[in-house]
Amino acid sequence: MTDATLPLLERYRDRLARGGEEFPISLGEGGTPLIHARRLGAELGLERLYLKFEGTNPTGSFKDRGMVLAVNRAMARGVQAVMCASTGNTSASAAAYAAAAGLPCWIVLPAGKVARGKLAQTLAAGARLIMIDGNFDAALDAVRELGHDERIAVVNSINPDRLAGQQTAAWEIIDALGMAPAILALPVGNAGNITAYWAGFRRSAELDGTSLPRMFGFQAAGAAPIVGGAPIASPETVATAIRIGNPASWQGAVAARDESGGLIEAVTDDDILAAQRDIVRFEGVFCEPASAASVAGVRRLTAQGSIKREDLIVCVLTGHGLKDPDIVAPEEGSLRPVSAQIAAIRHAMGL
Ligand code: F0G
Repeated sequence: MTDATLPLLERYRDRLARGGEEFPISLGEGGTPLIHARRLGAELGLERLYLKFEGTNPTGSFKDRGMVLAVNRAMARGVQAVMCASTGNTSASAAAYAAAAGLPCWIVLPAGKVARGKLAQTLAAGARLIMIDGNFDAALDAVRELGHDERIAVVNSINPDRLAGQQTAAWEIIDALGMAPAILALPVGNAGNITAYWAGFRRSAELDGTSLPRMFGFQAAGAAPIVGGAPIASPETVATAIRIGNPASWQGAVAARDESGGLIEAVTDDDILAAQRDIVRFEGVFCEPASAASVAGVRRLTAQGSIKREDLIVCVLTGHGLKDPDIVAPEEGSLRPVSAQIAAIRHAMGL
């Protein structure tokens, strides 16, 4: 058991820090809730379904776990700026931690494909935005090239500090459950997170003898290069966070799948949106569309009989629903004003 009152990097210092290393920057990342989803579980036919809600991180996504380590180390190295490509969450996180470090931040984004909340966060923190006429994969290619300049730290998950920090989510799950789950389900985009979770679980197994989960990754059907076994030139999905055609950590994802006896499958946009709605309507937990891919996949596998009622399952909800408010459509007529009279309001309530 670790001391939950410590900042994340201090809590797991023995596993993450180099000798005597200091971590002056923290925004209070990590320590996210693991919620026993009883009502959603009953709906899906599962008794032990848990949600690891990463939306409570400081910038509303799991990216903060790795960003805190990457930016502390970039600062210690004396870089002059940080930079990343992003579908939106990495940019919001990089912008926030760069602001806390007093470092300029350059962000390269696919024009027109970043959710509104993420754009607002990135702009508010003073990052300098470059929108490109291309997708995330093109943005990451450009950033890799520019990152050869050693005055700039690239803080995408191709930076090993990002993946090292993201292992902490696996360790928190083990701390909370007292063991690893049988199945860990999560969305897969650039494939850094599935790689990091698997490394984290393996590390705990080595150090503490904990068991290993099976890793279940889910890509959006229109952006499922790992499922199809080949890069996709023009990925498309409503889940813009995982709209990626050529994941940087492809090999890591395949290794996590194969070594754990897991799987990586595709889920449709309709199934993703239905899962997003059910997670918040049954549990009150509002996540963004990409996050719901984990629950959409688990729902389908349970219906097919590939997951059993009593299996201990953790679905990772990677980002907050407020990041992408435009995706939630109002019920027909519910936003039309009525008179402020009690009678009119009662009528609108259907009483
Ligand atoms: N869920 C959310 C909410 C994400 O923002 C991402 C990735 C993923 C899942 C997939 O994680 O890439 O490690 O497989 N977002 C990146 C970004 C690409 O730029 O914010 P992954």
